[in-house]
Amino acid sequence: MKRPIARLVSTGRYVPDKVVTNADWEKVFDTSDQWIRERTGIRERRESTAQETVAFMGKEASRHALEGAGLTPEDVDVLLVATATPDRPLPSAACDMQAMLGAKNAAAFDVVAACSGFLYGLTVAEGMIAAETARNVLVVGGERLTRIMDREDRTTAILFGDGAGAAVVQPAGNAGRGVLSSYLKSDGTLAELLYRPGGGGIHPPDEAMLRERSYYLKMAGREVFKAAVLSMADACDHALKRAGLTGEEIDVLIPHQANIRIIEATAKHAKIPMEKVYVNVDRYGNTSAASIPIALDECVQAGRIHDGSLVLLVAFGGGFTWASVVLRW
Ligand code: ACO
Repeated sequence: MKRPIARLVSTGRYVPDKVVTNADWEKVFDTSDQWIRERTGIRERRESTAQETVAFMGKEASRHALEGAGLTPEDVDVLLVATATPDRPLPSAACDMQAMLGAKNAAAFDVVAACSGFLYGLTVAEGMIAAETARNVLVVGGERLTRIMDREDRTTAILFGDGAGAAVVQPAGNAGRGVLSSYLKSDGTLAELLYRPGGGGIHPPDEAMLRERSYYLKMAGREVFKAAVLSMADACDHALKRAGLTGEEIDVLIPHQANIRIIEATAKHAKIPMEKVYVNVDRYGNTSAASIPIALDECVQAGRIHDGSLVLLVAFGGGFTWASVVLRW
């Protein structure tokens, strides 16, 4: 019996209204708009208010995606939330979002793979659809990086922003459309190049955690940069090979939006010209697991992705984790 192919049928996004520009960071510590733009490509990012939790932003993105699919929250079988910044340690962000959305018939759980989380979630959704254990899967990437970045650390604070994106995944009626291949990979031996040391079982919340600021994200930027370039190239190669395609055949590349230099290196490796690469890192900075679904929704709304488009999604993040998906829209 042939396995059903999973297809993304609709998307949605939510970003906070509050814009934080590079000029705003110039007032906080010794940095400049020029340094940030040249090193990262970022001009501004969004910052959530107290009300704009991961569950709230994910719920708003999901509402748009469900409307596009002609579904109600009650129709959702599985709600997967990719996040590294859940609103509270327990329950999962997915359970909090389930309650807010009213997806009362869903099984809800988080996927924790940092910036690669949305592609990990999409691959889990694809497997559940192929196994016929679910028909309507909502995959959400939602993050509030501004809550875990150290505002005294100029090397990381300038990079991150908040937001959420969502996609409804269903069995494809028409074979040949949907997810053609995916590739997931991790290397836990490199965890401490990008991590949050404090707040868990090893370093529980205590005075030392506050004093040492170990609750905040720590990153060895240069090492992460090199690993990101190599891993995203590896991810492109594997997903393209598994789909039996070359980079030249791809219509749109949507890379994780962390740094314009990483994006350019990835496109060059995959032999995809920059005209075919979607970039919004200048407007949102790095929104981790939210970056790909936000970009995907913008591409669909702008008409850059349409029926039949071949799309390559590729990500890299803390863990380390990396991932890629090829799909025909
Ligand atoms: N403004 C001005 N100067 C700065 C700033 C700043 N905001 N930040 C660092 N500098 C200085 C450093 O102190 C250093 O000064 P020194 O030479 O006097 O010591 C100099 O700039 C160069 O620092 P580097 O860290 O070597 O700069 P680099 O070119 O590597 O750029 C950056 C830093 C932008 C962080 C880059 O390394 C990067 O993008 N890394 C990858 C981040 C990433 O992609 N993360 C993805 C995963 S995120 C996730 O999973 C949640």
